[in-house]
Amino acid sequence: GAAVEVDISALKPGEKLTVEWRGKPVWIIKRTEEQLAELPKLDSQLADPKSERNPAELTPEYARNTARSIKPEILVAVGICSHLGCSPTDKLTPGPQPSLPDDWKGGFLCPCHGSTFDMAGRVFKNKPAPDNLEVPPHMYLSDTLLLIG
Ligand code: FES
Repeated sequence: GAAVEVDISALKPGEKLTVEWRGKPVWIIKRTEEQLAELPKLDSQLADPKSERNPAELTPEYARNTARSIKPEILVAVGICSHLGCSPTDKLTPGPQPSLPDDWKGGFLCPCHGSTFDMAGRVFKNKPAPDNLEVPPHMYLSDTLLLIG
């Protein structure tokens, strides 16, 4: 399918945009400083903190870092759970919420079987989903123009 251009100039910290690429929802999230600061602390709770599984399909080389991104603050990820393909729900706000641990730092909850993902789309351990969310191929055409695909 065709690549998709996205203008992210209006995206504010803590906000998410969803676009469609190859029939899949792709999330673009501008993470806050606080959300980014939590990412390195979560490694021991994650199934694949360094994105080493299936890297050719799930994590392009330029996103094999803690934030799983080119620009640290901008996450680009396919919003489809690696278990059976449901779309996880935004749980971007830290703190206690139904079905989430009390020390939740923000991320996503799959409504189908309870898999949870952090703000870099990394899956938590002991959940049905085996893998992190896919980071699709992407690049920046300018500071605020993103090309997905
Ligand atoms: Fe997401 Fe099963 S489809 S946990």
